[in-house]
Amino acid sequence: MAAEKVDPAIRDGCKELVFDSSQLQELSKRFLADVHKGLKKQTHPSSIVKCFVTYVQDLPNGSEKGKFLALDLGGTNFRVLLIELSKDHFEMRSKIYAIPQHIMLGSGEQLFDHIADCLAQFMKQEQVMSETLPLGFTFSFPLTQKGLTKGYLERWTKGFNCSNCVGNDVVQLLKDAIARRGDVKIKVCAILNDTTGTLMSCAWKNPYCRIGLIVGTGSNACYVEKQKNAELFDDADKGSGNVLINLEWGAFGDDGSLDFIRTDYDRDVDTNSVNPGRQLHEKMISGMYMGEITRLALEKFTKQGLLFGGKGSEALFTRGKFYTKYVSEIEGDPPGTITSCKDILVEELDIPHATDQDCHNVRYVCECVSRRAADLVSSGIATLLNKINEPRVTVAIDGSVYRYHPHFHNLMMERISTMINPGINFDLMLSEDGSGRGAALVAAVASRIEQQQQK
Ligand code: GLC
Repeated sequence: MAAEKVDPAIRDGCKELVFDSSQLQELSKRFLADVHKGLKKQTHPSSIVKCFVTYVQDLPNGSEKGKFLALDLGGTNFRVLLIELSKDHFEMRSKIYAIPQHIMLGSGEQLFDHIADCLAQFMKQEQVMSETLPLGFTFSFPLTQKGLTKGYLERWTKGFNCSNCVGNDVVQLLKDAIARRGDVKIKVCAILNDTTGTLMSCAWKNPYCRIGLIVGTGSNACYVEKQKNAELFDDADKGSGNVLINLEWGAFGDDGSLDFIRTDYDRDVDTNSVNPGRQLHEKMISGMYMGEITRLALEKFTKQGLLFGGKGSEALFTRGKFYTKYVSEIEGDPPGTITSCKDILVEELDIPHATDQDCHNVRYVCECVSRRAADLVSSGIATLLNKINEPRVTVAIDGSVYRYHPHFHNLMMERISTMINPGINFDLMLSEDGSGRGAALVAAVASRIEQQQQK
């Protein structure tokens, strides 16, 4: 960080956003305790980090093939995909559809009718209306699974809040909507989380992959656990002895365990969200909230007279007007330069009187917020690496924050290195399109295993 150019008062004001190593150790300890609670039958019902069993037991081996449809709901966009897998090669065509705000907050029927409508449009366009294709559904919200094709919605996250869905099997809701239309035929082979898709997509080529991570609109991770440790896993052992666990780590802290590091900004973001009291860890990390945390800090410093000569703007003082992408752009300025920062402050936030000194200060605030997010993620990943305790592990990662923030990868590399046990080596790999390709792979692996068992 270019700390020498930053006003001491700003640096001082940001101290609460910077962790020391004892806080990180404490975080790791609390997280591990919560993971154990989530895995155990007795403590699972009251656990905060849910550790949902995904029923994905086998990782791909590169030999999967076939033509698959995939649906991807739960990030910034909703997508429908057509994927063709062949040995060591895949082809993919996809289309993005908007989910308007009134549908995100409307009824479940409306949401699933919209999804079925987009699916039908896409199938028509791709001329596969007459085929019954296997479909993988990447549905990136907390689900209690009762098999690979049954997932009951626990709660909505990331700004969704549709009625009549919580407690229901989402695969059934999709099938009902398709039946209401009557013009398309599909075979749902798997429902999965985006973290699972990300892990699978990377594992297709990389045999060391054991963790899937999303740092995007939301944040969450999954990892490979031994079936004997996953006490809620009730399926017959199908060979590998492992099962993927969807941690739903976004909820870490919902019982107060993060209160020792939360700030007024975090409390403000939470109070003004559609799910107050929920997903407190996610709200300190992910793209849906990072910009707003930064804006709240900038607003406070302006009102204290520490920025912009004490004079802000309507945009700066309006909720949601400082986008997370600004944080990435501002930190993308080469050290010592302020071109993007100046542009954003002047053009987007209507602060023409921002000085060079203001820009250095604003950049520092952005750095503190994104480093804090990277530290939280790294602490969780280091905890998992120590728990898995294999000599070499690849972490598959996707999501807009990891992808577009110019330093997130390096920050994570540095922090994780300081927190892992000796003898463990890791790498962080961008997983290309886990939600789409991963869905096809889960469906493909499931049918490969089914065929093997029939032989
Ligand atoms: C939210 C969802 C979770 C998902 C994550 C990343 O935390 O609850 O299921 O994996 O966002 O998209």
